[in-house]
Amino acid sequence: MTTPETIPPTGDKLAWAIAQAVRAPSSHNTQPWRFRIHGDAIELFADRTRALPVADPDQRELTISCGAALFHLRTALRVCGFDVEVDRLPDHTHPDLLARVTVRAGPEPTEDERALGAAIATRATSRVPYLGVTVPDDLVDRLRRDVEAEDAWFAPLPEESQRVRLVAMIMEADHLQWESHPFRRELARWMRANDSPARDGIFGYAFGIDNIESHFAAMAVRLMDRGAHEAVGHAHLADASPLLAVIGTEGDWALPWLRAGEALARVLLRAESESLRVAYLNQPVEVPVLRGAVGELTGRVGSPQLILRIGYGAQGPATPRRALSEVLG
Ligand SMILES: Cc1cc2nc3c(=O)[nH]c(=O)nc-3n(C[C@H](O)[C@H](O)[C@H](O)COP(=O)(O)O)c2cc1C
Repeated sequence: MTTPETIPPTGDKLAWAIAQAVRAPSSHNTQPWRFRIHGDAIELFADRTRALPVADPDQRELTISCGAALFHLRTALRVCGFDVEVDRLPDHTHPDLLARVTVRAGPEPTEDERALGAAIATRATSRVPYLGVTVPDDLVDRLRRDVEAEDAWFAPLPEESQRVRLVAMIMEADHLQWESHPFRRELARWMRANDSPARDGIFGYAFGIDNIESHFAAMAVRLMDRGAHEAVGHAHLADASPLLAVIGTEGDWALPWLRAGEALARVLLRAESESLRVAYLNQPVEVPVLRGAVGELTGRVGSPQLILRIGYGAQGPATPRRALSEVLG
């Protein structure tokens, strides 16, 4: 729990807030961000050395990941009682500078801000099948309002026909991604054995892979096209999810991507505060030939950015993050 007692009393609050920011999710747990403290401001930079050129050639998901870190940062600073002003993409000659967050003394955090801040410590992606328990309408509506507050849209897919079409797209996307050797090589590079000392990347245990198997998982991914297997697994997971939803934006460039990341983090922290679990089924958004079809399925204007499955079930395991010294400066 993020309680006022766990917040450093003086000076170190900005560093503490950055430590909360790096708990954010990122694709393949690449943690593609850097931070710089500059007087009363924190600058957030994209770390493009951590990009995924095959899975994410436009660095759209990289920017979304940084947006998620930005929302964590905003939330943590509010929990510290700062007034927070965010200037997104403040310097068009310096596109790596994604946001400048300026703080000054502000009002006490609201109950809502405290609840979102407390959720940072325990939120994790939960990739298990969810229980057959419906997500209440008022909670779905709360998630929608959270996303809209971040200038993005939230499109639940409640109809069986929508689910069927989405599952078909996910399966097709799995086949297309896995038949690509470069895709598999890139994924394998970020896979980690359960006992790896690494502080980034995807650990086997986060996917339910046991210790011994986790040592061979990256090699298996490199050598074998598991597209058919992944497709069936994802279809089952989608079918077992009480709520499938798409987060999208009107525009499709760095600013909306950043906002989509902020919206994602807000949804994830809200979900955590309500004991809801969330995982991703992004594949059809990542494959260009299918992305338009996802957009059509939602009936919304603009571009789909993320596909989420949401429900109740076991909490996901915490995964490591790099030390603050590696992301500061
Ligand atoms: C933009 C984005 C895309 C992601 N895509 C996927 C995905 O397709 N499949 C998946 O299992 N996890 C996906 N994730 C989750 C990350 O793998 C996860 O956040 C990371 O491994 C850190 O783990 P944590 O969320 O449990 O802290 C994505 C996360 C982000 C921010």
